[in-house]
Amino acid sequence: MAADLRGRDLIGDLDFTKSEVEQVLELAWDLKKQRAESVTHPLLRDKVLAMLFFFTSTRTRGSFEAGMAQLGGHAAFIEPKTTQISHGDTEKELGEIYGRYFDGIAIRHCDWGDGNNYINRVASSSRSPVLNMQCEIYHPHQCLADLMTIMEKKGRDLRGKRIAVSWAYASSYLKPISVPQSLILQMPRFGMDVVLAHPPEFPLMPDIVHQAQDLARKNGVGFDVVDSMDEGCEGADVVYAKSWGPLLTTADPDEGKVLQDKYKDWITDDRLMGLAKEDAIFMHPLPADRDIEVTNAVLDGASSAVFDQAENRLHAQKAVMALTMS
Ligand code: CP
Repeated sequence: MAADLRGRDLIGDLDFTKSEVEQVLELAWDLKKQRAESVTHPLLRDKVLAMLFFFTSTRTRGSFEAGMAQLGGHAAFIEPKTTQISHGDTEKELGEIYGRYFDGIAIRHCDWGDGNNYINRVASSSRSPVLNMQCEIYHPHQCLADLMTIMEKKGRDLRGKRIAVSWAYASSYLKPISVPQSLILQMPRFGMDVVLAHPPEFPLMPDIVHQAQDLARKNGVGFDVVDSMDEGCEGADVVYAKSWGPLLTTADPDEGKVLQDKYKDWITDDRLMGLAKEDAIFMHPLPADRDIEVTNAVLDGASSAVFDQAENRLHAQKAVMALTMS
């Protein structure tokens, strides 16, 4: 029997059980098919989502906003600098007041040590569901779209398939660690073997890695941590390679940049993809540093799933909103 997800928050990847995630994906595929056939689906007519962004976004903003419109509702784009948050409105005010105005509150807040707590504090004061549009620990809606994409490319039964979650070099900025953390938590529940590859200075949060190892053990799948991109990607069905900052090693961005610059050869190119399975796909949440993090040839090549991933943000988030905000 389907669970009633009305009113539920989605802040961490494990907030929804495996069967609740499956329920989200089934609806996401229905909505995707209906959209392809121009069938309207106003499941959230007259409902309004507040989207509060403390950090920039292309895909997340666009997909939540378009998604709400396609569901018959509306999304309000809100930035701290154009509200009274900087003049004293706290998480309690946000939760209490926006929870009464809006049918859902979505928040992106990636500040190290602050973002996840902020989102949880808003949620504890809100009568409407709170959705995490990315914090410093989790990016759950990205991960739902990733899972959806992997199942579309590799089949619904992922047992025996291997995902390489690898660090890659980038020069633009120190990117959050939330995407790899969400991936290593979610994929073992769906039967995937996980290999996590990163240089020693770029670990993920130990608590998250322990939870992921525990989930892998409980689900009878492999979980390995290696310090070589080549070793991580060898034989993989999915190469998910992206940069993240050495946030657990140093809080100093200049020091972080120096550490990052030691590993300029951690790039996804045709040679690296050649180590993976012949039919392996390349995944990245975007934005990517083109020809630095991943070559244009791979990013735009036949094995790249990045645009399908980005599209699936729309369908997966519409399913979450329809189930939690109706
Ligand atoms: N993948 C992702 O979250 O993209 P944006 O930062 O553009 O929202």
